[in-house]
Amino acid sequence: MGRLILISNRLPVTIQDDAVGQNGQTVNRSSGGLVAGLDPLHLNGDGIWIGYPGTDPDENTRKLLAGMRLDPVIIPDSEYTGYYEGFSNGAIWPLFHYLPEHCNFDPSAFADYKRVNERFAEKILEHAKDDDTIWIHDYQLMLVPSMIREKLPSARIGFFLHIPFPSSEVLRVMPQREELLRGLLGADLIGVHTFEYTDHLSRSFRRVLGHESRQGVVNLSGRKVRIEAHPLGIDVESQRKAAYSDEAEQILIRYKRNISDAQVILGVDRLDYTKGLPNKLAAFKALLDREPRWRDGVVLIQIAVPSREAIGSYRDQKSEVERLVGEINGLYGRPGKTPIQYIYDSVSPDELGALYRLADVALITPIRDGLNLVAKEYVAIRDDGAGVLVLSEFAGAATELGEALRINPWDVQGTADQIERALDMSFDERNERMAPMHRRVVENDVHRWVDRFIRSLGSAGAEISSTPPMLHSNVLAETLAGSFASASKPLIMLDYDGSLREFTPRYEDAKPTDEILKLLKDLGSLNGAEIYINSGRDRHTLGEWFKGLNISLIAEHGSWARNKEQSEWKRLGPPPDLSWKTEVRSILSDFVSRTPGARIEEKSSALVWHFREAENDIGKWQSLDLTTHLENTLVGAPVEILTGSKIVEIRQQGLDKGRAYSIVEAEQGPFDFVMATGDDRTDEDLFAQLPDDAFSIHIGQGGSLATSSLSSPASVRRLLALLVQARS
Ligand code: UDP
Ligand code: G6P
Repeated sequence: MGRLILISNRLPVTIQDDAVGQNGQTVNRSSGGLVAGLDPLHLNGDGIWIGYPGTDPDENTRKLLAGMRLDPVIIPDSEYTGYYEGFSNGAIWPLFHYLPEHCNFDPSAFADYKRVNERFAEKILEHAKDDDTIWIHDYQLMLVPSMIREKLPSARIGFFLHIPFPSSEVLRVMPQREELLRGLLGADLIGVHTFEYTDHLSRSFRRVLGHESRQGVVNLSGRKVRIEAHPLGIDVESQRKAAYSDEAEQILIRYKRNISDAQVILGVDRLDYTKGLPNKLAAFKALLDREPRWRDGVVLIQIAVPSREAIGSYRDQKSEVERLVGEINGLYGRPGKTPIQYIYDSVSPDELGALYRLADVALITPIRDGLNLVAKEYVAIRDDGAGVLVLSEFAGAATELGEALRINPWDVQGTADQIERALDMSFDERNERMAPMHRRVVENDVHRWVDRFIRSLGSAGAEISSTPPMLHSNVLAETLAGSFASASKPLIMLDYDGSLREFTPRYEDAKPTDEILKLLKDLGSLNGAEIYINSGRDRHTLGEWFKGLNISLIAEHGSWARNKEQSEWKRLGPPPDLSWKTEVRSILSDFVSRTPGARIEEKSSALVWHFREAENDIGKWQSLDLTTHLENTLVGAPVEILTGSKIVEIRQQGLDKGRAYSIVEAEQGPFDFVMATGDDRTDEDLFAQLPDDAFSIHIGQGGSLATSSLSSPASVRRLLALLVQARS
């Protein structure tokens, strides 16, 4: 196994210019959950970490960074602004947190985002070798996976998104939604914090790009992309070490002295409009408004860590929060009593640990949060059973921390009720709720998170295949002719539409031409050769079109077969359950009526919605809406929904072209030469089933499991003609 290449927007160090005149720089390791998790992996391996250094490193710093195997991506300030403040934090961040009103989809910021993503990709490519593992982090770098895939088709690429992935309905707001999704599809494994986000991602690939996914796997031609939930854990050991350090003890004593016997509610948030600070303050005020007993009995310590201050919406949030803090302290403060102790600063790990130990209640109220590490950190430290976690249902961590008191931050009175419930809670109940959460957080720490992701990425890599080489039919014929001519029992299995015959606007017009019929006649008369058409077409059409020829037929993606010596069709699978057909037919009719040019094709075990004759944009748009609707309607039904070339096909589950091949092989094999052709997703099932030494040919550009590609049906026909000559 090669090295691990980690990529994140920021390098895990902070570089500071020394005081003016000294002309030097200081490099310190940054703190934070991600760094804590990935650092051991980096330090114990021989890989590198690529990221933005914050400040341009001088010569000495560069050497120092190189010694730490950290490679800085140098980005001009002008570009960084568009990338970081503009598109990352002015478009993706707010939209993915369900706040389109904070978004500015400025095309020039997106151009900077793209350019900076390219800079990261270029830097990765300077290092990456074939057997390396590349792990890219977060929303600032969503285009990088595809940029790498394009240059290194067989690389093993993981991507982890640390923020929420929104519902496809929200994602659709973004003008650049397709580019972002395509960027992600360069990865083999996309990790997110919760199952909700995996569902949203799968749905978006389907809804926006038309890519089907099943059980968390997006099937691209020749490549699979897995989507998995891996909630980030915390570095329990170092958190506890800080919280119980001598320094933390001293801080704790000082705080206790100041606060005397009031209960402490703690908030720790980056000052970000997603964190629900105004909601938290409103609920705290509501509690003091209605319950005088708490006006002396409780203190809210709120750490607000400065963040992204160059962005207007962050500055507005800061003013709003400070106004509310002032209002509440003005209303309920008295000499020597301040209900809210507000600290606009970051605190050291020791101080944070002391605060976690001090707090009777942690109050975490984001209106949307990918996960929220603070909640897990509090649970990890407050293991004496005396603390209560009050947690927003909109934080990803809420799915793992079910014993917390759950709040909807928009429900001011409801939140106030839960704060009061927490303050009044008996020790026994506090303990009963905290103990299982504590165990869970400790067990699923950040090291386990890394382990699981890397292991999963390792097995995802095994599914990689690349784009087959595009060959000229003469060249391919030279490769195949010898073994085809000398084989005692060769098999040729041909797809029809898009492979042997060009598409026509109306599907029923794609009848075999005289050239095709002649070619099939010649193939059928070759001594000892088995020739099959393996098509998605219905059996009546195939039977009619190819009657009188000495070839065998497989119809409806492996549902039916008719051997060349027989006149009867044989069902290949068990009798189908077609109970879904009536409902699907009525949905398809509805979509036909709203899409001029669309039509329904009826097959015995499938229904097909064709939109080749519809206006391009309308057809594609309606097909995406149709597939989303069908997926919702047909949950649990024994069907598969396939998107092919200008079609949406709903077919009985458990039948495919590959399965049909296996049956033919079992009944008539073994064959000493196997060749198969195909142009779309349904043919990939066949390619996957073929023996290792088979010749599989994909028609058209793009990835496939096939061993080689030809450009068009015309070149397939040329190849077949040459093969006929070779064996005649
Ligand atoms: N944190 C910090 N400095 C502080 C306060 C908090 O580094 O002064 C850390 C905190 O321990 C936590 C992280 O910042 O690990 C915040 O992560 P979270 O997931 O809660 O929110 P995010 O900032 O990622 O949105
Ligand atoms: C969130 C994001 C991180 C980001 C962090 C701090 O946790 O997921 O990618 O690094 O916030 O934000 P900043 O803009 O200061 O890097």
